[in-house]
Amino acid sequence: MSTGTLEVQGLTTTYGPVTALDAVDITAEQGKITAVLGANGAGKSTLLRTVSGLVRPVSGRVVLDGADITRAPAEAIAQAGIAHVPEGRGVITELTVEENLRLGAMLGASRKRTERGLAQVYEMFPPLAERKRRDAHVLSGGERQMLVIGRALLSGPSVLLLDEPSLGLAPRIVAQIFGLLRDLVDAEGVTVLLVEQNARSALSIADVGIVLNLGRVVASDAAATLAADDGLRHAYLGF
Ligand SMILES: Nc1ncnc2c1ncn2[C@@H]1O[C@H](COP(=O)(O)OP(=O)(O)OP(=O)(O)O)[C@@H](O)[C@H]1O
Ligand SMILES: [Mg+2]
Repeated sequence: MSTGTLEVQGLTTTYGPVTALDAVDITAEQGKITAVLGANGAGKSTLLRTVSGLVRPVSGRVVLDGADITRAPAEAIAQAGIAHVPEGRGVITELTVEENLRLGAMLGASRKRTERGLAQVYEMFPPLAERKRRDAHVLSGGERQMLVIGRALLSGPSVLLLDEPSLGLAPRIVAQIFGLLRDLVDAEGVTVLLVEQNARSALSIADVGIVLNLGRVVASDAAATLAADDGLRHAYLGF
């Protein structure tokens, strides 16, 4: 049974001539939120895509609970307990809210486990419970974000990779979703790697923060320490 400590060691990923990740070292500990911050093009999404096996690194390793998963197929990485919520809210608007959620259940998961997962997601996100039989196109931006996070949770992940969940949402909704995320981590001990451009909000709920710039880690510390560092905030975090 996986406990969910994710280590990235010396990870380098390129796209042709572009080095998107340059010897990146990160440890995301179980039961903690690790925020990955940085400007456009810093390599944040590439980090998540490399961890989940969607792109392959040229060197370095991705290790989950001591097991090297660097070259594992993306499906095997998902099976190992890593759920990736990519940028953009990929809800299927022709399906109902509940049908969207059920798509997140692992193939072969027992009916009982799926029903329990659904109940948990509805408890965490009441707006989804209220609309479970409606087509997903009726959902607001914030509700769609809840839906894609909920769908990822249906697989019962030990590690949740979230790519800019706050994008395009009003500050009040961001605070709500981040608060729910914090509650989830505290209750279930999930490991979260939270990619965000909204550094101020992310650091307010994260335990640890990592700042990327042009594919390199330029800072890595307790979230509160990073948030209090004026020089770093002005240079890289935009607040
Ligand atoms: N499929 C691709 N092909 C070529 N270059 C790419 C590709 N995806 C990303 N890049 C480049 O890799 C670098 C890192 O991109 P990445 O998407 O990881 O950044 P990001 O930190 O997620 O940025 P944003 O905040 O804008 O989402 C950028 O220079 C980008 O142009
Ligand atoms: Mg990105």
